[in-house]
Amino acid sequence: MIYENILVDVKSHVGIITFNRPQALNALNNQLVDEMNLALQQFETDDAIHVIMLTGSEKAFAAGADIREMKDKTSAQAQAESFLSNWDYINSITKPLVAAVSGFALGGGCEFALACDVIIAGENAKFALPETGLGIIPGGGGTQRLARAVGKVRAMDMILTGRMIDAAEALSLGLVSRVAPTATLMQEALAVANKIAALSLPVARAAKRAVKATQEMPLSEGLKLERELIYTCFDLEDQKEGMNAFLEKRKPVFKGR
Ligand code: CAA
Repeated sequence: MIYENILVDVKSHVGIITFNRPQALNALNNQLVDEMNLALQQFETDDAIHVIMLTGSEKAFAAGADIREMKDKTSAQAQAESFLSNWDYINSITKPLVAAVSGFALGGGCEFALACDVIIAGENAKFALPETGLGIIPGGGGTQRLARAVGKVRAMDMILTGRMIDAAEALSLGLVSRVAPTATLMQEALAVANKIAALSLPVARAAKRAVKATQEMPLSEGLKLERELIYTCFDLEDQKEGMNAFLEKRKPVFKGR
């Protein structure tokens, strides 16, 4: 498959998807999102890939959904074509997703970062959900995921004012998990991705599933799911390996089963 709007690369067990529409600051048009979904699907089904990374350029992770592409839409058209339904696919990915965010992560760009499991920002990163200023609301999951990430009043503040926050504020709000110097962002994000990739993949998947459940389930159900998932771990060769390696004072070698 030849992609026109993304670049795809593999480094060891990490599959990397790089948004690549520099002429529009990686604005997310329909074709780009379809290409991203195809790349996500290929990495999700490739046993050699343990972690998927989403990134952009130094200037822009992504400056939002493509405004040119949607400006003339009517409500009826949006409904008939299920506008934005291809933005949901990322939510079905079971492998850990790491976002490495440099520059602008606005609107849909911020929303795809929020759809990832770990978000690492460069010091130059700028986050905003400015959609209300364009006469729409965030539609790529932003109203739900931002509020869950940073709390209702902070999400309201960002969504109703559209203000842009820098990496330091994003870290203090809990929108990102780490900030790295812009020049070494990719190196640091890859180090984090490689650390996750060295885990037993079924264990990484179970941990992701359990933590994601906090966004969807009441505590009592989430606790039940957690218990079921830890039980499944005890059937893994990797659980025996992990614990034997600890007791034998050596590094575990996981096989993904
Ligand atoms: N859609 C389409 N094109 C975009 C774009 C977008 N979201 N963001 C930037 N571009 C284009 C610009 O139109 C411009 O193209 P031309 O050279 O052909 O004029 C090019 O990218 C460079 O942009 P600027 O000249 O504006 O660059 P700048 O450095 O002066 O400003 C910016 C950068 C602050 C990011 C500014 O481009 C901007 O505010 N972009 C729009 C951000 C935005 O509102 N995003 C939300 C989109 S709506 C959404 O995402 C809906 C949803 O929830 C799914």
